[in-house]
Amino acid sequence: MKSLTITRPDDWHCHLREGDRLGTTVPDTARTFARAIVMPNLNDPVTSVDKARNYRDAILPHIPIDTAFTPLMILYLTAHTSKTDIDAAQSSDFIYGVKLYPAGVTTGSAAGVRKLTSLYPVLERMAEVGLPLLIHGESRDPAIDVFDRERVFIEKELAPLCETIPTLKIVLEHITTKEAVDFVSDSGPNVGATITPHHLLYNRNDMLGHSIKPHLFCLPILKRSHHQTALLEAATSGNSKFFLGTDSAPHAINKKESSCGCAGIYSAPYALAFYADIFEHENKLDKLQAFASHYGADFYGLPRNQETLTLIKQEQRIPDSLAFGAKQVIPMGAGQTLAWSIQ
Ligand code: NCD
Ligand code: ZN
Repeated sequence: MKSLTITRPDDWHCHLREGDRLGTTVPDTARTFARAIVMPNLNDPVTSVDKARNYRDAILPHIPIDTAFTPLMILYLTAHTSKTDIDAAQSSDFIYGVKLYPAGVTTGSAAGVRKLTSLYPVLERMAEVGLPLLIHGESRDPAIDVFDRERVFIEKELAPLCETIPTLKIVLEHITTKEAVDFVSDSGPNVGATITPHHLLYNRNDMLGHSIKPHLFCLPILKRSHHQTALLEAATSGNSKFFLGTDSAPHAINKKESSCGCAGIYSAPYALAFYADIFEHENKLDKLQAFASHYGADFYGLPRNQETLTLIKQEQRIPDSLAFGAKQVIPMGAGQTLAWSIQ
């Protein structure tokens, strides 16, 4: 049987949620990934080192006993974040970055940032101490078409930020456009990007072309196919600026199949098999290990994992639904068959 042994991967962008749902999300991520960047967009956002410590303490008991997994905590940037908060985050041994949500652009972003330039002094401190800024790169201007919000954010906010604070370490999260690929490629080594399995696998036709697929609705929204092509090229190019981040973001079925449905796709348990299918389809399986297991760690200045993980070419069927605390979640690709499995 065909198999592929790689350094155990990390997930550089995921949502573990909170409460009883940690009982699903933490094992699902920990079974594949050695480390994961844990997004701070909880109902009560993770805006301080104390909140990050409490959140981490809530996550740790859910790690399966036979599994080594380290949650990498992130601070949520608000108008009230101070240089003192940055110093406290940097001197903690469990916070690895600060997340910028432009206010109102996505799930859990209401407490985010309205005017980025007001926070430049705080971002300058981050650059000084070497703490990365993780960016949800979409314009918060409601007049901008939802399909253009990433491009406009890059032009109007990200480019000026990079010009003003050129040494700030930036991860442009879950990129979805050719413009984002080009911006990151053309930036210095301190600017990287995560790429999700869903933005590699789908475009907006898959979500809206025949019938509306609420379980493919995420933010930033799926784009046209030529953007998908640019992302596939970037992910499989061997360019170390692009690395794995699932943006696994579960919502209970009733929150997705609704007249006002939430954005977010749950991919954690099958994400690596999805990436393997995608890379194989592109004839680039030889590039999977670096994308999934090396480049992210290198970017964050963390050691690469020592353990390995083996993928085998054995079909697996994705269940129609999964437990999600007391509720159910529909995973990405529910009911479909993947060519690869984790041994
Ligand atoms: C995320 C969520 O549900 O928390 N949703 C999503 O569509 N990706 C938030 C985010 O990362 O934008
Ligand atoms: Zn996310």
